[in-house]
Amino acid sequence: LTLYKALNGIIKYNMRKSLDLEQEGCYLQTGKKECLEECGFNATAKTIFIIHGWSMSGMFESWMQKLVAAVMRRETEANVVVVDWIAMAQQLYPDAVNHTHNVGLDIATMLNWLQDEQQLPLENVHLIGYSLGAHVAGYAGTFVRGTIGRITGLDPAGPMFEGVEEQKRLSPDDADFVDVLHTYTREALGVSIGIQQPIGDIDIYPNGGDVQPGCALGDVLAVAGNFMEVMKCEHERAVHLFVDSLMNKDHMSFAFQCTGPDRFKKGICLSCRKNRCNNIGYNTRKMRKRRNSKMYLKTRADTPFGGYHYQMKMHVFNRKKSDNADPTFHVKLYGAHNDTTNIFVDVHDDTVGLNLTNTFLVFTEKDIGDLLKIRLSWEGESESWNSVWKNIKQTFWAWNTKPPKPVLEVRRIRVKAGETQKKFTFCAQDPAKAEISPGESITYVKCRDGWEVKPRKRYET
Ligand SMILES: *[C@@H]1O[C@H](CO)[C@@H](O)[C@H](O)[C@H]1NC(C)=O
Ligand SMILES: *[C@@H]1O[C@H](CO)[C@@H](O)[C@H](O)[C@H]1NC(C)=O
Ligand SMILES: *[C@@H]1O[C@H](CO)[C@@H](O)[C@H](O)[C@H]1NC(C)=O
Ligand SMILES: *[C@@H]1O[C@H](CO)[C@@H](O)[C@H](O)[C@H]1NC(C)=O
Repeated sequence: LTLYKALNGIIKYNMRKSLDLEQEGCYLQTGKKECLEECGFNATAKTIFIIHGWSMSGMFESWMQKLVAAVMRRETEANVVVVDWIAMAQQLYPDAVNHTHNVGLDIATMLNWLQDEQQLPLENVHLIGYSLGAHVAGYAGTFVRGTIGRITGLDPAGPMFEGVEEQKRLSPDDADFVDVLHTYTREALGVSIGIQQPIGDIDIYPNGGDVQPGCALGDVLAVAGNFMEVMKCEHERAVHLFVDSLMNKDHMSFAFQCTGPDRFKKGICLSCRKNRCNNIGYNTRKMRKRRNSKMYLKTRADTPFGGYHYQMKMHVFNRKKSDNADPTFHVKLYGAHNDTTNIFVDVHDDTVGLNLTNTFLVFTEKDIGDLLKIRLSWEGESESWNSVWKNIKQTFWAWNTKPPKPVLEVRRIRVKAGETQKKFTFCAQDPAKAEISPGESITYVKCRDGWEVKPRKRYET
């Protein structure tokens, strides 16, 4: 009780009444009924608490303004409350961490009082916590009487939470539905700013959860000035993705369940069967309790962040004994509305497998409409450092025998669009020209009915 008294007043519940952030709004106080009336608290509407994290620059950083405004625009009747624990967050990190427990307890006390006083249904309560705020929300969920509807963790803090027991961090038991966005899980000196391990019912790792497009040193240096900006950009990306999901309802981003980032980058996981895909951010659908389901997607560098994922499968035949071939492929997609540029086919430290079916992930930033045509090209020997290097390696090993021009054959490309789940098979436009060498390209069109050939038996040796 002394503790509660001590905290009373340090933690403020600022209910936002206007999109104009200059206006202070009003404050809820546990036990003070008159505040509820004054604030126009509507106990039958949704109640959304926004909880900030560790901070050095004080309240109402720009991300907070954007998030509050986006929530209020999307949920016009909701009670939108900013939990201001800045006095306890603006401290050395370990001290701020130490306070998360008590701030969570304070929020739980507030929610218990609202349940008693206004019969507030907890299932209508959504806590959104950024960084340390995510773990504050976790404590609130632990201490409250009953079960909170939803907790969203926006890049929950990693240091001092990674690997600790569930009671001391955000976990799936803290609410009926716990969804988490992880955007800064890259490790430096043994820790990462955002927690790496999955801690919700659904854990979404945009761009693998590590390198966020648009946040590279070069990209943000132009804007601000130092390495801290890169950190802030990647950590805060979770908030901006969430804001994007609130605002761009018609351009939703999908995430796909996968056991790990490497498999996702290879395009193996683009299935929506059995709830294996979901919308990201505010639009994430609650699923049957399924702990720690890791989901992935790629995003654009800026809002709207959503793009389009394609899985491509092609069998690369080596019929002309081009055993050393190590092709660098690009694809260009032609759609009903627009075309893409040449997109590098990333094999991720691997090489294109010969006499094997290769699976790739291709991501486009714009909606090209229905896919009509694909051009596959093999980069010429002098077109990039990548090829030059491969060429040097080859000539080095075979310096006295000029290797013959490699020839590979790709007859068909099977494509699955992640966003629509449509599948097509593309055949070489000219069936007689399915062979490719460096500097050349092949065009594929949708296989005509009855024209598509069943895969031939492998060549026997
Ligand atoms: C309270 O919220 C409910 C549900 O959103 C809505 O139907 C009702 O009109 C609101 N009441 C007031 C007084 O705004
Ligand atoms: C957390 O706070 C309590 C009480 O103020 C103190 O006893 C404890 O040492 C603190 N723990 C850390 C890790 O700072
Ligand atoms: C692939 O198959 C061809 C014959 O079809 C053979 O010459 C070649 O050695 C096989 N293996 C590789 C790795 O290319
Ligand atoms: C195709 O994309 C380009 C570049 O993004 C754009 O300038 C052009 O207007 C688009 N064309 C159509 C038909 O949308």
